[in-house]
Amino acid sequence: MDKQDLTGKNILITGASRGIGRFVAVTLASEGAFVLLTGRNSSSLEETASIIRSAGGNALCLTADFSNQDAVFQLASEVKRHISILDVLINNAGQALSAPVGDTTTEDWDRIMTVNARSPYFLSQQLLPLMTGSSLKTIVNIASVVSTQGYPLQSAYSASKHALIGFSKSMARELQDQGFRVHVISPGGVATDMVTRVRPDINQEELIQPDEIAQWILFLLNHRGQGMVDHIQIRRESKLPW
Ligand SMILES: NC(=O)c1ccc[n+]([C@@H]2O[C@H](COP(=O)([O-])OP(=O)(O)OC[C@H]3O[C@@H](n4cnc5c(N)ncnc54)[C@H](OP(=O)(O)O)[C@@H]3O)[C@@H](O)[C@H]2O)c1
Repeated sequence: MDKQDLTGKNILITGASRGIGRFVAVTLASEGAFVLLTGRNSSSLEETASIIRSAGGNALCLTADFSNQDAVFQLASEVKRHISILDVLINNAGQALSAPVGDTTTEDWDRIMTVNARSPYFLSQQLLPLMTGSSLKTIVNIASVVSTQGYPLQSAYSASKHALIGFSKSMARELQDQGFRVHVISPGGVATDMVTRVRPDINQEELIQPDEIAQWILFLLNHRGQGMVDHIQIRRESKLPW
């Protein structure tokens, strides 16, 4: 397998202000990539950037709220003002919703679908032209175990992640002749705020650690053979259902 060097590569990571996205950003910046970080909270984004800069890396923060349907189009325009080639897009930003079917409002449904499915779809679409000149041309979409299975109280979240995985599979085949790779990573419970908010009773040490997800992404980016990796499913080895 060819070993790819990430030095000087431009990588956009959504949801980089905390959780999995922050670990991914720090890891890829430590490999020499220039990382573009997005999220809603500018001070948390700056915290990620300062971790990267204090280790000698390069980062740029761009705020965007993906619950606003126009945000990804504005973000794509902004990205084009800063760089002329994008090598890797990591669609990581996402929101969970834990609610019974009967309590899920149309507003909840629209927000979850917009943040978790519509935004990564149209951000990818808008940034494809910027990626055509890259030797990497890679999109990594962070889905979930709920992308392939159903769990109680997760119906809207699960629908959004099924949508994400569905378009990713199609994009992977539609774009492969142009040299693109589209990967999906579907983790079970990862030790971040997302799980703490929904299940404060769970011991974080028993969950998948966010750095593990960063390492899988790094592996996908710097090992490239003839085989296409469509979907990596990472489940917890425990009695927890996810
Ligand atoms: N933790 C898990 O157990 C787990 C398991 C499977 C899959 N995942 C998926 O992994 C991804 C990252 O999750 P995480 O665990 O790291 O969650 P997290 O700690 O809650 O972080 C979520 C990230 O997404 C950003 N985000 C949320 N809503 C946004 C919006 N409306 N517009 C723009 N950015 C937004 C947040 O930034 P701001 O708050 O600054 O906007 C934050 O950086 C998500 O797609 C999630 O579905 C997580």
